[in-house]
Amino acid sequence: MLHREDLEQIERLYLSPLFARYGEETAIVAHKLEQDGRTPEVAFQLIHDELMLDGNARQNLATFVTTLMDSQADQLFAETYDKNMIDKDEYPQTAAMEARCVSIIANLWNSPDGDTAIGTSTIGSSEAVMLAGLALKRRWQQKQKDAGKPFDKPNLVMGQNVQVVWEKFCRYWDVEPRYAPLAEGRLHLTADEAVKLVDENTIGVVAILGSTFDGSYEPVKDIAAALDAVQADKGWDIPVHVDGASGGFVAPFIDPDLEWDFRVSRVHSINASGHKYGLVYPGVGWVVWRTHECVPDDLVFHVNYLGGDMPTFTLNFSRPGSQVILQYYRFVRLGFEGYRQIQQACRDTAMYLSSAIAEMGPYELLSDGSELPVFFFRLKGDRTNYSVFDVSAKLRERGWQVPAYTLPDNLTDVAGLRIVVRNGFGRDLADLLLADLEHATEFFENLDGPMPHDPDHGTSFAH
Ligand SMILES: Cc1ncc(COP(=O)(O)O)c(C=O)c1O
Repeated sequence: MLHREDLEQIERLYLSPLFARYGEETAIVAHKLEQDGRTPEVAFQLIHDELMLDGNARQNLATFVTTLMDSQADQLFAETYDKNMIDKDEYPQTAAMEARCVSIIANLWNSPDGDTAIGTSTIGSSEAVMLAGLALKRRWQQKQKDAGKPFDKPNLVMGQNVQVVWEKFCRYWDVEPRYAPLAEGRLHLTADEAVKLVDENTIGVVAILGSTFDGSYEPVKDIAAALDAVQADKGWDIPVHVDGASGGFVAPFIDPDLEWDFRVSRVHSINASGHKYGLVYPGVGWVVWRTHECVPDDLVFHVNYLGGDMPTFTLNFSRPGSQVILQYYRFVRLGFEGYRQIQQACRDTAMYLSSAIAEMGPYELLSDGSELPVFFFRLKGDRTNYSVFDVSAKLRERGWQVPAYTLPDNLTDVAGLRIVVRNGFGRDLADLLLADLEHATEFFENLDGPMPHDPDHGTSFAH
């Protein structure tokens, strides 16, 4: 772990004699393995108590990740947490469920290969993005080699608003990132901005459905059409990857007419997080490619599966199988209509909340939850006594986790609050949140001077 806890602050953990059990009235060293263990009850109590300080998952409006499933899912999870996804030979039915999920998702995304599409589960969208990016890079390198051209300076074009995983991909795999700048009124990648940055060394363009910062969908079809024109003009055939981390499980259900997926022929690959709007606990992600030709052969490894050969393309070796099983459970349990209802309810709640917030007066919407059920809003420019960071902190007093942050380069002076509406956050909770936000806003509006600020308190939010 790269993050270090403040050692001075937490050196020892003191156990109090809660139930007067053996070993309770002592302390343990926090950062070194002690010689002797504790009874299971004492160890449990110690950890259980410390975790009380973590935020309440249901009031976490910062995360996109699923925090609520049903008791049958919990039961399946408890029955399957010992399964290793890579052990296809030992757990053939888990492997079969993974393959069925890939087909279901490929069909949902209108894959031309349908049931036989190539794809895999991953630990989340981040791993899926690494795989999709690698496939783009290798495919481009091969094309350049075949044409006798240099293949050492690949670049990837995307909006400045991409999630940090794309920056990571570029750094880890030696690809030059080319970011299209944002501007007031343009918070994501547009076709015009994308084509300005491409050249012969562009391995692909990333379009996000939808943007982590404000929940808006990037115009996949327009970007692809602009790249068609580039190809006609210059001969560069540049593929599109859609980062559908969240939208990959939203748009198919409630925006059926939006063409963002394999219906757009330039889209080579798509990723999504099963653990976001796929409605499964963390960590499961998915990546699917248009056709088998989009995945260069040398990226595929072969594992033994029932004495046969199972091709795999992942970064991790061992990884939990239970989340894949839970994804399959969700598909069986909800069907298309169940997903549709849930995503529509999330969008309705998001739009209800955003319009109520806009009506409060001091706030201005930068998105309204009509694409992803996610919206971003800021304070109007004339508010100087308080900031969105104060509002976020005040909401925290009631347990709500509503992150405040600044936008990326070019717009770092724009600070706002983001609300992610997920399954389980319905109108009742939305009304409670609104009441608390109104109360907090009234408090700030009545200040007769600026809020004092703690210089040690950061103003950023980790995406
Ligand atoms: C657009 C986008 N891409 C990728 C990711 C990374 O996904 P994961 O957390 O599943 O690794 C996120 C996470 O929020 C995201 O919003």
